[in-house]
Amino acid sequence: MNKVVLITGASAGLGEEFAFQLAEQGFSLLLVARRASRLQNIQRQLQLQYPELVIHYLCADLTDNQAPQKIVDYLHAQSLQLVGLINNAGFGQRGLFSEISLQTHLDMLQVNICSLLALTYLVIPTFTQQQSFIVNVASTAAFQAGPNLAVYYASKAFVLSFSEALHEELKERNIQVSALCPGATDTEFAEVAELSDSVLFTLRVMGKQVVVRYSLAHLNKAVVIPGIVNKFGALMAQLIPRAIARKLAYRMQK
Ligand SMILES: NC(=O)c1ccc[n+]([C@@H]2O[C@H](COP(=O)([O-])OP(=O)(O)OC[C@H]3O[C@@H](n4cnc5c(N)ncnc54)[C@H](OP(=O)(O)O)[C@@H]3O)[C@@H](O)[C@H]2O)c1
Repeated sequence: MNKVVLITGASAGLGEEFAFQLAEQGFSLLLVARRASRLQNIQRQLQLQYPELVIHYLCADLTDNQAPQKIVDYLHAQSLQLVGLINNAGFGQRGLFSEISLQTHLDMLQVNICSLLALTYLVIPTFTQQQSFIVNVASTAAFQAGPNLAVYYASKAFVLSFSEALHEELKERNIQVSALCPGATDTEFAEVAELSDSVLFTLRVMGKQVVVRYSLAHLNKAVVIPGIVNKFGALMAQLIPRAIARKLAYRMQK
């Protein structure tokens, strides 16, 4: 039977890279995102490169609170046996809290938190293999408050805390849970969040290949921070006074 990994946000950036690296490791895939043409294109490339694998894709908008159940229904309908879940879909929006629409904030929480939580909840009972894994994509944003990206930072703090707790709870069931905490990375994220000209993204960005390779090499770790600069930043955010950490974050993305 094919070992299948479900990846959300697989049409671009880190999710797309997870798809290629997991296929290289011999995993069949279910790719989820909104843009059908992108998913179709990635599916075609993967299927050509790895004809022995089964590559499915499913269009779903994770702002819809019914989407996680629909994804799991699809898994059952296709008799796909999951061994991994990459909860990667997410987005941010630069700007002052009061100047961004309430709908954008609520959609962000639905995608970054609620759909991640619901998918995790719904797939855990389907993990019947000896060893399974969940990667929840958080961010170095999880380690401090982030003025001008307030809801995004808060959403990633949730993902980090939630994943660390699950890491302990699910260890006994042979399910590895890790929170991947990248810093600025070269994907479409900055453009979508209108952050491309921020100090954060003009200083230094990491390549997505390195980030994903590091994540997949550390599935057994609760908190995975790729890159020495990101590790140092996350550590400093926890050591310096919170007021300084949040002011520095504000400067980086004003
Ligand atoms: N890049 C960075 O600097 C960075 C740093 C730290 C953490 N992260 C996190 O990394 C994760 C991946 O982001 P990325 O950097 O790869 O950004 P990206 O290139 O913009 O990719 C985001 C992915 O999420 C999907 N997505 C967004 N909204 C969705 C929705 N409503 N329903 C379903 N899918 C949706 C997008 O697909 P569609 O548009 O086709 O739906 C896309 O595949 C996110 O959780 C992000 O917060 C990124």
